[in-house]
Amino acid sequence: MTSSSLSFDVLIIGAGAAGMMCAIEAGKRGRSVLAIDHADAPGEKIRISGGGRCNFTNINTRPQNFLSQNPHFCKSALSRYTQHDFIKLVEKHGIAYHEKTLGQLFCDDSARQIIRMLLDEIAEAKAKLYLETKVSSVTKTDAGFSVETNNGTITAESLVIATGGLSIPKMGATGLGYDIARQFGIDIIPTRAGLVPLLFGPDLLALTKPLSGLSVDGATVSCGKTEFDEAILLTHKGLSGPAILQISSYWNDGQDIVVNLMPRKDIAAELKALRQAGSKVMLRNALSSYLPSRLGEFIVATAGFDLPMADISDKKIEAVADLVHRWRITPTGSEGYRTAEVTLGGVDTRSLSSKTMESTKVKGLYFIGEVVDVTGWLGGYNFQWAWSSGWCAGQFV
Ligand code: FDA
Repeated sequence: MTSSSLSFDVLIIGAGAAGMMCAIEAGKRGRSVLAIDHADAPGEKIRISGGGRCNFTNINTRPQNFLSQNPHFCKSALSRYTQHDFIKLVEKHGIAYHEKTLGQLFCDDSARQIIRMLLDEIAEAKAKLYLETKVSSVTKTDAGFSVETNNGTITAESLVIATGGLSIPKMGATGLGYDIARQFGIDIIPTRAGLVPLLFGPDLLALTKPLSGLSVDGATVSCGKTEFDEAILLTHKGLSGPAILQISSYWNDGQDIVVNLMPRKDIAAELKALRQAGSKVMLRNALSSYLPSRLGEFIVATAGFDLPMADISDKKIEAVADLVHRWRITPTGSEGYRTAEVTLGGVDTRSLSSKTMESTKVKGLYFIGEVVDVTGWLGGYNFQWAWSSGWCAGQFV
């Protein structure tokens, strides 16, 4: 790109998942489209997603899998461009995929195949993509928008903001999308890190240190009325694993989370049966039949007693059951944007049309993807929101 003034029908800031999808759709309609990105490669988050295999959608995607101040906002886009539409696109490009668990679809080979697919579609739609292009200002003009960049001025009738969220700043995440929204008087729902590991304070950490690296499959974790049933992982800083990442999006500072380490069995009933049978087995050993032995030791240490099963009172059994089924923890915080997979909050959906993603205040200004206050669960939902919202805007820009 040379230092000059360029004019397009549609300018998209951010060539991630949502921006590329929007570029494809607008280009297919015959609009002249430019997508710009400050990074030196498009779709960097796609590349690193899903451990390098991109969990590109979830076959069970429903509006209930998303958090937003307005839970109804995502319904229209998700129903007009569905997970099945995206799967068709993946199949059209001959990309092999598989369901890992809970409806989560991953590439068999590499996330790079999804980026390649989007770039091929962009080329076919004759949309343009300029990288290493930094935005210094955005101005509204009579004809649309004028955007100053390090590569000159770009004017466009429609401006699409697809700059994503604040997570992983190392990979080029910025708050530009929020700044542009504010500049035009559009409200921002306060942002915070989501799908992120949670941290313990020093006292609890001292107790759980020997558990670091241990994972418990099929635990349940709840916060208020929300519960997830997936694996948890004890780390040297606190808790991680899918169930914890999921609950982190619902957790606010100061709240407790409750972990059930063994949701499919009643430990009190099991221990009482051992006592009834007059078992001489020590509690710690009895627990190791149900839970990883390190966890059994942690429970015995936290309960403060270890006795032969035959000698344990009901009260003591209930105390153990509380720890196993209702381990109540107050995390001291989360790992924050440094490791979060997503950003909660963002552009207030009350200022956007759910059909077109256009601002209701500023004609021709659109917001798509993670920058909007719509955040999916872990499991391919966030990409589906990026595809669906990008597709919708692409029909109207
Ligand atoms: P995205 O972040 O993809 O793109 C935004 C683009 O804007 C970037 O290319 C960025 O460089 C550009 N940009 C930002 N600021 C700019 C500026 N000032 N000027 C110019 N350009 C700018 N989701 C999922 O469904 N399945 C998964 O497997 C995973 N895995 C995963 C792993 C990790 C480690 C992370 C961090 C995240 C995930 N996610 C995920 C979440 C998913 O990556 C995310 O929700 C989508 O990429 C959001 O798509 P967007 O297009 O909105 O933003």
